[in-house]
Amino acid sequence: MILLEARNVTKRFGPHIALKNLNLTVSQGEIVCLLGANGAGKSTMVNLFLGFLKPDEGTIVIAGRPVSDDLRAARARVAYIPDQVNLFPLLSGVENLTYFAELAGRRLTVGEATVLLVEAGLNGEDATKRMGDYSKGMRQKVGIAIALAKQADALLLDEPLSGLDPLAANDFGAHIRLLRDAGKAVLMVTHDVFRAREIADRIGIMKAGQLVETVDARAVESNALDRLYADHMRGELR
Ligand SMILES: Nc1ncnc2c1ncn2[C@@H]1O[C@H](COP(=O)(O)OP(=O)(O)OP(=O)(O)O)[C@@H](O)[C@H]1O
Ligand SMILES: [Mg+2]
Repeated sequence: MILLEARNVTKRFGPHIALKNLNLTVSQGEIVCLLGANGAGKSTMVNLFLGFLKPDEGTIVIAGRPVSDDLRAARARVAYIPDQVNLFPLLSGVENLTYFAELAGRRLTVGEATVLLVEAGLNGEDATKRMGDYSKGMRQKVGIAIALAKQADALLLDEPLSGLDPLAANDFGAHIRLLRDAGKAVLMVTHDVFRAREIADRIGIMKAGQLVETVDARAVESNALDRLYADHMRGELR
């Protein structure tokens, strides 16, 4: 089932066209990674799915319903993980998760919160330490747990790997894939061509507000994807 869908979406900011007639789908149990130069429109796409922005033309559809029909219902189905998970540094992972889950309408016991954090890849012992002492990778995991607590069907991640060391990025990717296996639809923006290929099922390359290429991650070698990306950015492919 298609969970996230952009149909002929155009988004303008004043005279600037951030997205041009863009079509994109993400199905249940699928990870789609978006690559593209700075300013290509990737975050704009994510913000449209989150309901933070409205398209000027076209339709954003979540689980078969246009977002404009019922914004609240649409928002309940998606969870967002930003590149910087900024939480309360004096509170522990468990406390932060409990607080943010409650904002999303879900009351968690300490036990439930700990289980979610462990599912997100955090060490159970670290879960009770104050977050001010967490590494970036650990904070990102709390971000995943908050998304899990919301029981959303789709996860939207905007550059979640930036600043993670290779092992932490690997670990993060592995957890995102587990969530995919559990049926979540995942749309992830990244600048990391190598990780995109490792993590995604499909990879979209965006340029100047358009999706110029979509490739099956398993069907493309890392070097070939690198070259394809570079060729698009240099304008040698259309
Ligand atoms: N709120 C806004 N007001 C005006 N222009 C905006 C706004 N948001 C985005 N833009 C413009 O739209 C274009 C696409 O921006 P967007 O943030 O989607 O790019 P991106 O692909 O996420 O880039 P990056 O890789 O740098 O994060 C850019 O030219 C940007 O300046
Ligand atoms: Mg961006």
